[in-house]
Amino acid sequence: MVNAFAYVNGELHAERVPAGQLAEQYGTPLYVYSRAALTDAYQAYASACTGRRAKIHYAVKANSNLAVLNVFARLGAGFDIVSGGELARVLAAGGKPHDVVFSGVGKSTAEMRIALDAGVRCFNVESLAELARLNQVAGESGQIAPISLRVNPDVDAKTHPYISTGLKANKFGVAFDDARAAYRAALGMKHLRIAGIDCHIGSQITEISPYLDAIDKVLELVAQVEADGAPIGHIDVGGGLGIRYDDETPPDIGTFVKAILDHFDRRGHGHREIWFEPGRSLVGNAGILLTRVEYLKPGAVKHFAIVDAAMNDLARPAMYDAYHAVDAVAPRDGQPPVIYDIVGPVCESGDWLARDQSLVLKSGDLLAIRSAGAYGFVMSSNYNTRPRAAELLVDGARVHVARRRETLAQLMDDESTLPD
Ligand code: LLP
Repeated sequence: MVNAFAYVNGELHAERVPAGQLAEQYGTPLYVYSRAALTDAYQAYASACTGRRAKIHYAVKANSNLAVLNVFARLGAGFDIVSGGELARVLAAGGKPHDVVFSGVGKSTAEMRIALDAGVRCFNVESLAELARLNQVAGESGQIAPISLRVNPDVDAKTHPYISTGLKANKFGVAFDDARAAYRAALGMKHLRIAGIDCHIGSQITEISPYLDAIDKVLELVAQVEADGAPIGHIDVGGGLGIRYDDETPPDIGTFVKAILDHFDRRGHGHREIWFEPGRSLVGNAGILLTRVEYLKPGAVKHFAIVDAAMNDLARPAMYDAYHAVDAVAPRDGQPPVIYDIVGPVCESGDWLARDQSLVLKSGDLLAIRSAGAYGFVMSSNYNTRPRAAELLVDGARVHVARRRETLAQLMDDESTLPD
């Protein structure tokens, strides 16, 4: 893996550009992505798939900035989307409809129509009701919708309950025990074509074994469904590979992909077309969030560093108790560190970004919040009427403004006071 965010002469750089210079020029809070890191992660998937019938569909929800999507489109990636909005982004970024898989538990009629008209590769359908609706929508427009069922293999992905999706108790997918009947129902629907089978067991998964368990269950179903007369063209194993935020030890991408492909070989299914839907592992460590220290606030129990980024910019700590490492952009040597909670200006006690960080800080210092490339900007909001951060894509010594900082005027543009 390239180390896209490393220290050179005592200062953190994004590829070849000093982080301090970026903050100076573009302001903070500021998301910074590395093209080399995005490319490297994608190539790790792609090269592990060399010589195989396999396709990587980037899960757009993890980071849907057009520049990021464009990097992946240029590399030949497909895309996994969960809304009509994500489809529009993929197309605007140069992705091809035929490389798009449409996932999600609540597709609307309008979204189905748009995706059918665009010609997406496959709909990952999550319920009988959705099958029936898609059949009707396709029929109305004289089309045949390619489908796979997202089956819920009921395996424990051993991850945070909010991001575990493959258990019976989750809202996602068709229950394993109902899946054969659902495929039979699909076989009887004139405007659907069965293309494959799909599962996704969760996110930030750091072990391979839950995937292998899920694949075994999916293969049981494949045999049943094919016996019922529906050839399964591809098997989509979902996304979910974890990254290192702290001391996690996920397998690296190549090891993960090889373990999965080898497992299909061992089970006699090496000839199958295999799809992956990774999000976090492609973008998570390809991004940082730069923020400036506004105030240091010593306390009786805790010392706080109040910074200019907040929970509206990076929701993961507040939402999932998630850990993001924090580093000084230009660490000060020779002074004793203090243990700080890094908190934002939003009026909520839950507005924290990191806890118990040992740092030497002064007001005005810059901090880098690590691993912010996935589920960072995309989950940001305008809470407390805070314009959303700018996003940059750094490529060597070049800086591309991937998204300008939002303005207050933009924020209020669609609102109005009452008439007289
Ligand atoms: N495919 C499907 C159907 C999904 O639901 C997801 C993520 C992915 C692929 C990509 O999973 P990944 O490779 O990124 O783990 N906001 C949470 C994560 C939510 C994940 C939702 N589904 C977080 O910040 O941790």
